[in-house]
Amino acid sequence: MNPPTRLLLLVGTMTHTAERVARAIEMDCADLIEQIEVRTMEGLNIQALEKGALYVICTSTTGAGDVPDNARALYESLGSEPRYLGHVRYGVIALGDSAYPQTFCNGGLRFDERLADLGAVRIGEVFCHDASEGPEAEVAGAAWCRKWLAQALQATAAA
Ligand SMILES: Cc1cc2nc3c(=O)[nH]c(=O)nc-3n(C[C@H](O)[C@H](O)[C@H](O)COP(=O)(O)O)c2cc1C
Repeated sequence: MNPPTRLLLLVGTMTHTAERVARAIEMDCADLIEQIEVRTMEGLNIQALEKGALYVICTSTTGAGDVPDNARALYESLGSEPRYLGHVRYGVIALGDSAYPQTFCNGGLRFDERLADLGAVRIGEVFCHDASEGPEAEVAGAAWCRKWLAQALQATAAA
């Protein structure tokens, strides 16, 4: 199988941190794959998950462990319009804050659970970023994604 030539970053955000992370990845990983597209989740549904691309769900958490407002339609459609997503290979960047220990990074973890339920295949572990600790999300997310993309391209080329 030919490895995918496109990375689609689907962004769920309340206050644009996740969007900045995706933009940092777009710049930082441009040498690793032919095309990188950043798409905020507004107006998307399950049909956004087509064949032929790699996906990274890049989303924060809001409320008490909820997905951001702009991610709700896509998230809910994974439950209300289920279809087999065995063609989807994805990674997850989950932004959260350990000040919310009961629901830490739940936005990204919720997406991961629904995608896996529909047969999509996650590559690598979910990357959880803690707003209260460590390097800023843009730097940490771009560094994670470089490694993830190398792993994802290798895995899909070998499939
Ligand atoms: C009102 C509010 C609720 C939040 N709830 C959670 C939560 O339940 N779990 C968590 O891990 N982080 C929570 N966070 C932290 C955000 O997910 C984190 O700051 C993230 O980096 C924000 O990214 P964004 O600007 O892309 O929305 C919350 C933040 C706010 C302002």
